[in-house]
Amino acid sequence: MKLTIQRTQEGREYDELFDVASLKVTTLLQALYEIKAKVDPTLTFDAGCRSGICGACAVRVNGRETLACSHTPKEGDRIEPLNYHPVQRDLKVDKSPAQSTLVKVLSRKEEVSVDPSSPPPPLSPEEEKRFRIQSDCILCDSCYSACPVLAVNPDFLGPFTLTRAWRYLTDPRYTREVESQNDSSLPTPHSSLLEKVQQNGIWDCTLCGECTAVCPQHIDPKNDIMQLRGESLKAGYSDPNLANQSFCTPDFGGGFGFDPNAGF
Ligand code: SF4
Ligand code: SF4
Ligand code: FES
Repeated sequence: MKLTIQRTQEGREYDELFDVASLKVTTLLQALYEIKAKVDPTLTFDAGCRSGICGACAVRVNGRETLACSHTPKEGDRIEPLNYHPVQRDLKVDKSPAQSTLVKVLSRKEEVSVDPSSPPPPLSPEEEKRFRIQSDCILCDSCYSACPVLAVNPDFLGPFTLTRAWRYLTDPRYTREVESQNDSSLPTPHSSLLEKVQQNGIWDCTLCGECTAVCPQHIDPKNDIMQLRGESLKAGYSDPNLANQSFCTPDFGGGFGFDPNAGF
């Protein structure tokens, strides 16, 4: 079995074909380890748990994001690093720029004082169920790599950060903090979080579903983004793309590329 690996060594990018027929491999990650041990020790990739838990080994196989430790290699597979991440070497990428979007959205300036003598009540099983799936994110960045919006807007917050935002908005502990806040002029954690996903966030998503298709944890960022849109509309935000669209100006149809003089 032959695999092609996109390599980046000392700034030079090239494809290299590896014959792994004589190597004992069951997963792509095992193939990478075998190549490194027996063929080319300079081959560089990321891995940790080897069992789909840590998210470190995400790569693209034939253009599709997958965890190398969960993928069974096939003849002719082409292995590439994740999209939109600076490549450090071969398949190893720097995830910090992509994951800095989490800090952008989730860092908080609001002071929330918690009285240690009356800790918040524990979550009920029903409450916990609301965001259990989003809490399973392993930050593999597969969804980020699959998202077409990042090809045209590198500032887009990206799917896993928006999913994380929805996870916190559905956490009733946020609502409790809102209730317990005394100064109504301060932004609540809830409203501040919603505010942060408006620009380069929920309205920039095309709802293509690529993020959902590649998530190894069966999280549905597309659906979470739709939920965030609903919550934003309820809070008085609107889709800025609709605000720019002209529906009934004198040159009716211009906004849609329709020529009223075309002679129907
Ligand atoms: S659904 Fe939205 S966030 Fe997900 S990949 Fe498509 S554009 Fe990106
Ligand atoms: S949402 Fe899924 S695909 Fe995206 S980073 Fe989390 S686990 Fe990976
Ligand atoms: S090595 Fe941890 S998910 Fe693959």
